[in-house]
Amino acid sequence: PPAAVDAALGPVRVLPVVSLDDAAAAVPLAEALAEGGITAVEITFRTAEAAKAIEAIAASCPQTRVGAGTLLTPDDVRRAVDAGARFGISPGWDPQTEAAAAEAGLPYIPGVATAAEAQQRLAQGYRTLKFFPAEAAGGRGALRQLLAPFRRLEPSFIPTGGIGPGSLSDWLSIPGVRAVGGSWLAPEKLIAAGDWNGIAALASDAVAASSP
Ligand code: 3PG
Repeated sequence: PPAAVDAALGPVRVLPVVSLDDAAAAVPLAEALAEGGITAVEITFRTAEAAKAIEAIAASCPQTRVGAGTLLTPDDVRRAVDAGARFGISPGWDPQTEAAAAEAGLPYIPGVATAAEAQQRLAQGYRTLKFFPAEAAGGRGALRQLLAPFRRLEPSFIPTGGIGPGSLSDWLSIPGVRAVGGSWLAPEKLIAAGDWNGIAALASDAVAASSP
């Protein structure tokens, strides 16, 4: 059975999805997000620096729960775990990557966009699922319809894809949404400019929008 995702994620309701071209930005970025009140971050395996970035945050930012995203292969999972990732996320799901996460004891969040995919993952024992690509797959209406038949299994979803500050609180108001993911919290431009105050401000705006 899947390892404890909830404990790994902690109380966050907003999960920044971060792609870093330079791992040197990882620690100041994580500190800026934490200053704004966001203490979990997903570093995606979309750049060559991902493992290094995870390692840096795991070593230097005890306040931040660092996870690995865009896990597409067992090798991605092993590199994430070796670097110190505390949870892992995939845009979808495949048996090999899932098996590698289970073997490593990595709390793992597979991605789903349809009822068939959700039913398969729930049958497998997963309870926290990424809903991806959230806006393109039908947005909030689609997720509400998807949740209805599965409710008695108590799934929780992390919608990600196309979400921003304008729709954040509407997504979070859907019962069954655990957190919202997105890259808007760590824009490439601000990272490149080293604008950590700007990123802290984006984070605290998101935290404000996610408080009831
Ligand atoms: C992801 O990897 O989860 C998504 O690509 C993030 O989507 P966004 O960039 O639209 O927030």
